[in-house]
Amino acid sequence: MADKVKKAIAIFDSGFGGLTLMRQIIKTLPSENIIYFGDNLNAPYGDKSKNEIINLAKKAAFFLYQKDIKALLIGCNTASVYAYDEISRHFFGLPVIDVISPSLKMVFPLSKDKKIGVIATKATIYSQLYRKQILAYNPTAQVFSLACPTFAPMIERGEFENLKEIKRALLPLIKKKIDFLLLACTHYPIIQEKIKEAIGEEVTILDPSSAITLELENFLKRAQLKNEGSLRGRYEFYTSGDAVKFKTIAEKILGIKINIPIVYLS
Ligand code: DGL
Repeated sequence: MADKVKKAIAIFDSGFGGLTLMRQIIKTLPSENIIYFGDNLNAPYGDKSKNEIINLAKKAAFFLYQKDIKALLIGCNTASVYAYDEISRHFFGLPVIDVISPSLKMVFPLSKDKKIGVIATKATIYSQLYRKQILAYNPTAQVFSLACPTFAPMIERGEFENLKEIKRALLPLIKKKIDFLLLACTHYPIIQEKIKEAIGEEVTILDPSSAITLELENFLKRAQLKNEGSLRGRYEFYTSGDAVKFKTIAEKILGIKINIPIVYLS
């Protein structure tokens, strides 16, 4: 069991988005070893077809599967929506955790007026999964879903301050006078401050990374896989994109120095 505990948690995303989860895991579970794969070459996933998303997500997951890991966190909403079933069905008994249910659990305790905005990629919004799940829980809620297809590419370019574009994209939601906004794409917490500036101080914004990390922690405890050691975790990075660019942007998001990632072409 001791050896199993020391194995890494693997996370993948279409690019830098999953680092918002990694950032939270480092804070909450500092002894965990983590392997991160950013499929930056193929970002954004959110503009792709269902089949393309499934194929890319499967390749990323199976690349990580070969790395002697104890669990896989799909650090991407789009891949969680379309590829979770497919990946977990073929993951040879290794646990797979998605990002959707932990964030949904937080919606109702936090939204006062039940005027709920959901922003995500085109593919996630098109699936209607969040809308359906929120309404299944409370049919009287008002749900306003909006795809923000310019956000992930902007973040992939390292542009975190483009308030003009953020305001332009959020205009349809600003008009709806929502009281609560769910960030249903792991990239978006990176620009959360600017989203707040655009949408207004009075709107409660949910970055689900704490809820997702808590779910991961509970899972690890239940499975007796939590690393309780006193040593700091080791981090390993892979990207299908430009390694130098990855290092620069990832350091900005994580707030720590990292080793240059290994390039892996998925
Ligand atoms: N970070 C991803 C998500 O959570 C996807 C962004 C993209 O590649 O379009 O949906």
